[in-house]
Amino acid sequence: MENNTTDERIVSTERLDVGEDLSLRPRRLADYIGQKNVTDNLKVYIEAAKARGDALDHVLFYGPPGLGKTTLAGIIAAELEADHRITSGPAIERAGDLAAILTNLNEKDVLFIDEIHRLHHSAEEILYSAMEDYEIDMVIGKGPSAKSYRIDLAKFTLIGATTRAGSLSAPLRDRFGIISKFEMYTPGELAEIIRRSAKLLDIEIDAESLAELARRSRGTPRVANRLLKRVRDFAQVRGSGVIDRSITDETLRSLGIDKMGLEGLDRDILRLIIDKFSGGPVGIDTIAAAIGEERVTIEDVYEPYLMQAGFLHRTKQGRMATRDAWLHLGLTPPETDEQLAFVYDESETGV
Ligand code: ADE
Repeated sequence: MENNTTDERIVSTERLDVGEDLSLRPRRLADYIGQKNVTDNLKVYIEAAKARGDALDHVLFYGPPGLGKTTLAGIIAAELEADHRITSGPAIERAGDLAAILTNLNEKDVLFIDEIHRLHHSAEEILYSAMEDYEIDMVIGKGPSAKSYRIDLAKFTLIGATTRAGSLSAPLRDRFGIISKFEMYTPGELAEIIRRSAKLLDIEIDAESLAELARRSRGTPRVANRLLKRVRDFAQVRGSGVIDRSITDETLRSLGIDKMGLEGLDRDILRLIIDKFSGGPVGIDTIAAAIGEERVTIEDVYEPYLMQAGFLHRTKQGRMATRDAWLHLGLTPPETDEQLAFVYDESETGV
C-alpha cells in the first residue's frame, strides 16, 4: 500500500487549519464564486427579509467539507448588516452553553453553528423552541426544588452547517426554512477562485498552471487555495518566483497528487478495494480499519470526490471500485460487468 505522509495531506476535515488564510475569504455575495443555485435564491430571501425589517429565516447548509459553507454564512451576516456569532456542535458541551449564547443574541443577529449534526441531544432540544418560538425553557436545580424558567430570545437567524444532512434529526431539520445543498465546484469556477486568490496574495501564475491546479483541486476551493500556496513555495525556492507549468507539475508530483487530483489515501482506498476484495463490495468499516483512518473521514472527505470522479460507488452491499478506477491505477478491469460497480444500486446511500 502506498505510503501516505499525514502532514502533507492536502485533504482535511479541519475547518480552519493553521495557515488557512482568512484574507482569501470573500466577504460579500458579489465576490463569492460558484454555488449559483444556493446564492441566487439566498439573494432573494436576504433582500426580502431586509425590506421587511425582519430576521432571515433559519438556514441549513449541507455538503462535503471545504466548499464554502462557513464563508457563505459570514457573507449572509454581512449582507444582512447583522452581527455574527460562530460556534460548532462539538464546542457546545452542555445545554447551558447554548442557552448562554442564545440569550446574548440581539434582534436579527446571525448565529452560525458548524457541524450541527454533532450537537449534544440536550442542546439540540433547546434549539427547537429557540428556533420556532424564540424562547427557551431552562430548568434550574434538581429534584423537588427544581424550577423551570422561560426565557424570551431576540428574533435571530440560525445558520447550521453539516457534512451529513442525513444525520440530522427530523425535528431539527424541519425547523430550517431554507435548506441548501453545496455542490463541488467545476474546474472553471475553481480557476476563477485561484485567480482571485493569486491576485490577493500577489502571486504570478500562468494560465496553464491555473487550469491544471483547478483540475486537480478535487472540486474544493479549500484544496485549491492550499495547492496555490504550496506551488508558490516551490516557485520561490526552486524557480523564479513565477508559477509556470513545470513548477506546478513538480509541486503536484511531490505532493503525490495525480492527474485526477487523487492523493495517496484516495489511491490506497481504491487499491484496497481492488487488490484485496477484487473490486468490492467492501463494507466501510473494513476499509476504515485497513486504511487506518476514521470511518467518518473516509465518508465525508474522501468518498465524495471519489464518487464524483466516477471511481467509487456506494451500494447497499458496500463500496465498489468502478472500471475507471482500475484503469486509473493502471490495472486491467475484470471482463464481466457483474464484477464491477456498473449497475447503480437504487438504494445507494446518498447525501
Ligand atoms: N474562496 C473560497 N471559496 C470561495 C468562493 N466560493 N468564492 C470565492 N472565493 C472563495
